Amino acid sequence: MPRPPSPATLAQLKAAVAPGDWLDSAGDVAPYLSDFRHLYRGATPLVLRPRSVEQVAGIMTICHREEVAVVPHGGNTSYCGGATPDESGSQIVVSMQRLNRVRHVDAANYSMIVEAGCTLAGAQAAARDANRLFPLSLGSEGTAQIGGNLSTNAGGTAVLRYGMMRDLVLGLEVVLADGQVVSALKSLRKDNTGYDVKSLFIGAEGTLGLITAASLKLFPVPADTATALVGIDSPGRALELLARLRGAAGDQVSSCELMPRIAVQMTVQYVPGVANPLDFDCAWYLLIELGSPNPHQNLTALLTRELEEAAAAGAVQDAMLASSLAQAQAMWKLRESVPEAQRRHGASIKHDVSVPVSAIPALIERGTTLIEQLAPEGDVVSYGHAGDGNLHFNVSQKPGTDLAAFTGRTHALERAMFDLVESLGGSISAEHGIGRLKAAELARRADPVELHVMHLLKKALDPKGIMNPGKVLCAN
Ligand code: MLT
Ligand code: ZN
Repeated sequence: MPRPPSPATLAQLKAAVAPGDWLDSAGDVAPYLSDFRHLYRGATPLVLRPRSVEQVAGIMTICHREEVAVVPHGGNTSYCGGATPDESGSQIVVSMQRLNRVRHVDAANYSMIVEAGCTLAGAQAAARDANRLFPLSLGSEGTAQIGGNLSTNAGGTAVLRYGMMRDLVLGLEVVLADGQVVSALKSLRKDNTGYDVKSLFIGAEGTLGLITAASLKLFPVPADTATALVGIDSPGRALELLARLRGAAGDQVSSCELMPRIAVQMTVQYVPGVANPLDFDCAWYLLIELGSPNPHQNLTALLTRELEEAAAAGAVQDAMLASSLAQAQAMWKLRESVPEAQRRHGASIKHDVSVPVSAIPALIERGTTLIEQLAPEGDVVSYGHAGDGNLHFNVSQKPGTDLAAFTGRTHALERAMFDLVESLGGSISAEHGIGRLKAAELARRADPVELHVMHLLKKALDPKGIMNPGKVLCAN
């Protein structure tokens, strides 16, 4: 069991970093105490901001010896409270923000090594400078850090083509709970040397070790891109169109994002500079992007032809192809502003779930019926990454309804949605992780043997239970 750090331990921890790299006044530590959604408010006696893996190892050695709990902290964009200390005031926060260098870009090997505190946008820029693409793409990429992306196995808008963060990792450097460093930063596509140890730390949300750097896969930069916003009458039509496009363009289809009318309306209403470029008011909208490194591919012609054929077959109601980068960016702004619009609209209850792509229409139809029955104060705003089966099945409070009545539905809605998702073979956390928010549901719903293995791994790697306690796994 972790215990509160003594004054002597706190002094040792401060000495493990440079003088300006620790914070302990109430005002200074305040930004580290609350999560992005303000679901939790914790307390801490100390925030450390190490600049090297050696300093992180020194911190963990002290924490292990003194049995002090550590909460790793990245860009603080977690939706599940994964980087927030608990209310006890005994957990120290280790912010990775100053461990943020790009160590090496190997263009010929299509790889780069970046430190955990590098922002996702910074990593993308470093790849771009070498005429390469790092394809993970998220609304919060300017703030979210690589360490957090790894720890939550982040997804985003290009998973259809490039996979999730896990799929983009070649190697990791990780400081274990006792201060030992796993130096597995190889940049190899082929490496069959026993267990895939690095894999354990991806999606573990800092509960097994503290990721300090990663070797990441890079790709050719798309030189030809086609982007379209398409109006359709049902999610089933969206899948038909996706199948048609994949048939015609294969892996060049990089994004397929679905939005209901209400999401588009909210975004246009609340977010300055966002407009709906389509003439017709449609029940559903699909943002499609195709990309190829071949500048002569003419993906715009391909997408135009496919959309015209789909429209002739009645599968598409309206569509607009971006004719400039600015138009494509405006379409992406419409999609990426949906969470902000929901926030401005008022309270919302979020469900980040996934199902097999083929089950998306069933999820939307049955989920909507459930919500209508269980939460009369709510409007369903189910949008997201239809191409990979991940929907943000969110519910926004209807204007003029009672806030307490609405938020009081949270638990019942979550249970019902998760039951539905399970019945469709899906997951209760697609891309936002478990954190503190879903730890109890994971304990309830995970396969018992799989959960047992998770606890075995936790005990083996963190026998004193000091790594981000209360996240992912409930204490047993
Ligand atoms: C998104 O895809 O926009 C986010 O993952 C979901 C959200 O911010 O609610
Ligand atoms: Zn998302």
